[in-house]
Amino acid sequence: MTLRGVSSSSAAAYIAEGARILRTGGLVAFPTETVYGLGGDATQGKAVARIFAAKGRPSFNPLIVHVADVDWVADLAKADTRFDILARAFWPGPLTFVLPRRDGCPASELVSAGLDSIAVRMPDHPVAQALLRAVQRPLAAPSANASGTVSPTLAAHVASSLGDKVDLIIDGGPCRVGLESTVLDLTQGKATILRPGAIIAEQIAALIGPVATATEDPALPKSPGQLVSHYAPVLPLRLNATTAGPGEALLGFGSSSNAALNLSPTGDLVEAAANLFAMMRALDDSMRFSAMAVAPIPATGIGIAINDRLKRAAAPRV
Ligand code: TXA
Ligand code: MG
Repeated sequence: MTLRGVSSSSAAAYIAEGARILRTGGLVAFPTETVYGLGGDATQGKAVARIFAAKGRPSFNPLIVHVADVDWVADLAKADTRFDILARAFWPGPLTFVLPRRDGCPASELVSAGLDSIAVRMPDHPVAQALLRAVQRPLAAPSANASGTVSPTLAAHVASSLGDKVDLIIDGGPCRVGLESTVLDLTQGKATILRPGAIIAEQIAALIGPVATATEDPALPKSPGQLVSHYAPVLPLRLNATTAGPGEALLGFGSSSNAALNLSPTGDLVEAAANLFAMMRALDDSMRFSAMAVAPIPATGIGIAINDRLKRAAAPRV
């Protein structure tokens, strides 16, 4: 595994090297606007299998296929006018569509984990886009972390979580959004949000009409990745805390006092989303605490997605 920066003038060389690795079935971690992705050529079954192995991901949990352009979707999936409208409005960006797989779809069946649907997303990051264009193949890319743990928002997080299991990590600095994309299921008549993210239900509903939110029946995870316990830090996590108990680190928000770290001292939810995973990791790594307690986060806008991730991080570990 090599960690390569892209802030220098040699960025183009890293993209070319990454593209070469991907074409030969290797794995490349790359930055997106949401979190770092662990990329493999979606059309090579072996590469996709390597992704599952590297993450320790259960094989029933399908992967998102990343594209450089809206046009690439036509080969992969059966899209309708709702997709056209929403992709025009929000791509490139943090919105993933689950669509029916097209007959003859060139992506490995493994990305769909046995479902007859496929998830597609066009990331809004210059490195991700340059890599996709250089490879000229759709890239399967889950978050570049060990399955069930906190997603990476820095290249260093990828290195510590996956290390030698990835052939190259391209460092693009911190991820702007910091939470994984909104996942929207368009396989049914009713559009359904399977995972909340930065693009919220109201924005989607304004363009295509009413949007449902997947019910939390753990027996029926419609998005197989939405396991109840997920995004878990190492330390136990307590929600809606106003003060830290003995041994606890308070992860504050707004005017929290005595916070070990504050997600956003000014109470800005977008800033809090961008800081969430990195601050959870920092508290895990500090070795000074035996537990974390997180201040209440308003459930509006991207705060809905923050609360979703926190709830899963606090759930009993299975
Ligand atoms: O922001 C993101 O989406 C990041 C970056 C790297 O693009 N990727 C990401 O991938 O978060 P991952 O694998 O960690 O999460 C993908 C989610 C999972 O909850 C998975 O179950 C769901 O999308 N998903 C993928 N394909 C699906 C499908 N065909 N049907 C239903 N859910 C699907
Ligand atoms: Mg993930």
